[in-house]
Amino acid sequence: MRYFIGNWKMFGVPKSINILNKINSFHSTDKNRNKYRVIITPPYTLIESYAKYFKNKKISIGSQNCYQKEQFSSNTAAVSPYMLRSVGAQYTLVGHSDNRGEGDTDSMLKDKVKHALKNNLKVVFCIGENKSEKKNKKTLSILKKQLIKVLEKNFNKNNIIVAYEPIWSIGTGKIPTVSELKKTTIHIKKVLESIFKKNSPAVLYGGSVDGSNVEMFKEIREIDGFLIGGASKSSKKFIDIIKNYYR
Ligand code: PGA
Repeated sequence: MRYFIGNWKMFGVPKSINILNKINSFHSTDKNRNKYRVIITPPYTLIESYAKYFKNKKISIGSQNCYQKEQFSSNTAAVSPYMLRSVGAQYTLVGHSDNRGEGDTDSMLKDKVKHALKNNLKVVFCIGENKSEKKNKKTLSILKKQLIKVLEKNFNKNNIIVAYEPIWSIGTGKIPTVSELKKTTIHIKKVLESIFKKNSPAVLYGGSVDGSNVEMFKEIREIDGFLIGGASKSSKKFIDIIKNYYR
């Protein structure tokens, strides 16, 4: 199974559902439709209405983050996994570099993953090195550290997806080379196998993915799909990624 996950970040109002309707129509009739899943993570404000609307359709709705406590607490503006699940979210991103940059630590991320899984949300756990770590050849060790500090053997790996997003690639148009990315993805899967003592969960790539570069990634069979930011805000761009991937 492949995954095409659209991360809307701070984008979208109720009528933006038109974008998802077009993606849903494409997916419903695509001859490759059984080979992949489409998940969209709109902002918190849209999760309930979108999840209701797409309940029995192809697209699944997820959240971009969740708070590191399970149910209710006195943290202003926080939204818990329990609250997200109760309005129909099926997935949540955890550890996006935007949120790590705003102060999410490994121990907070561990609590987020734990409580999300406990509340039946599937977790898309994001990792990635920054530009200077890459320059200093620290990529593989940084990724390993990000994985082992947060994921544990007793987490259900069937409900976890890992998204590798090099920070220097997000929103910049820069992407890793095929050989670099293949090596990195194999490394991530090896680390995950050692954590879970089982087959690795799915590993996605994210960072400037679009309809013109996605064909390059299909050479790397270890990549199980994509986390797509900018290009997920346009139905045409998002559909082009899927079309070109299977062409
Ligand atoms: P991008 O964002 O596709 O715009 O680079 C990816 C992400 O941040 O998830």
